[in-house]
Amino acid sequence: MMHHALNRVLLAGALALVAGHATAADKIKVGFMLPYSGTYAALGTAIENGFKLYVAEQGGKLGGRELEYFKVDDESNPAKASENANRLIKRDQVDILIGTVHSGVAMALAKAAKGSDTTLIVTNAGADAITGPMCGPGIFRTSFSNWQPGYAMGPVAAAKGHKTAVTITWKYAAGAEQMEGFREGFEKNGGKIVKDLTLPFPNVEFQSLLTEIASIKPDMVFAFFAGGGAVKFVQDYHASGLQKTIPLYGTGFLTDGTLPAQGASAQGILTTLHYADGLNTPRDNDFRAHYAKTYNNVQPDVYAVQGYDAAQLMQSGLAAVQGNIDDKAKFRDAMRGATIDSPRGKFTLSAAGNPVQDFYLRKVDGQKNNVVEVAVKQLADPARGCKL
Ligand code: PHB
Repeated sequence: MMHHALNRVLLAGALALVAGHATAADKIKVGFMLPYSGTYAALGTAIENGFKLYVAEQGGKLGGRELEYFKVDDESNPAKASENANRLIKRDQVDILIGTVHSGVAMALAKAAKGSDTTLIVTNAGADAITGPMCGPGIFRTSFSNWQPGYAMGPVAAAKGHKTAVTITWKYAAGAEQMEGFREGFEKNGGKIVKDLTLPFPNVEFQSLLTEIASIKPDMVFAFFAGGGAVKFVQDYHASGLQKTIPLYGTGFLTDGTLPAQGASAQGILTTLHYADGLNTPRDNDFRAHYAKTYNNVQPDVYAVQGYDAAQLMQSGLAAVQGNIDDKAKFRDAMRGATIDSPRGKFTLSAAGNPVQDFYLRKVDGQKNNVVEVAVKQLADPARGCKL
């Protein structure tokens, strides 16, 4: 008798495997495609740490199922992006993709995800197209569109009386789109961008561009750099002495996760972002305490929050299907309808799958990007070109 029952269980398991069906006992395969090397390496690690912190808070499971992780270092290299995405999709056969940081890499990742109908949660990259023309039922973002943090600074800069701005950034989608968002917000409020300066990603030879800014003498400079490049840019801008006459502003990436390395050079810089230090809500305070305790006293940054919220979003979907991630339509519908109780403040997703969220004005004080005010409340990306 015993023997027969056992055989039947084993047979059912074998059949399920042959048919390619996961059972509740199987682990959910989660594919992390993130930069673990290069100028964005620290960002990738923060995203993974944030994701795993939430999972640990749920007792190591999401939707009642354990997770098995597969990792690829995408090096923030768009040329290798399709191949790297397919490692996770075809070789590892992951159930869900989590990533990435770089907009160019993320566009290839989103294309591969759509082509294979694999669910994707974008945990940083702001490429407008992902929740624009490339949007789809299986595509989600817990971060931002590039347009959002750029746009948010427009009214703030204009209200400070600035009339002219020079923009400076790396020449790729993230830089171009964040500057474009700023242009829209700034020009709508009477400002004018008099020059757009760029250099190739991830170069950090800023000297000739700083000389050009000095000769143009705009009222302000608006910049996007992040990670290691942001550290160097802020240091160089400070060393040039320009800050005294031409204040530097940026999207919050310029000073997020970078303050210990930037030190004195970053003091007083104003940026806009969907996260800030000093929010002082019970939700954020709990998150920060737990993060610091888990990761050697490292303070969480915006990237850690975006990773944490990707796990929260996944949990909302899995709760609706009792862990059966193969019930794709129901899983995805539940995610799209979720309200995420984020450390940044609660947010929902637009029809295109991008967070509708507050953007904070922050000011660097010591090693903190302290919240000054909400620059734009509940800002939704226009999702131009998305037909969902
Ligand atoms: C991007 O490529 O979209 C990107 C990278 C780093 C950031 C923000 C955006 O901090």
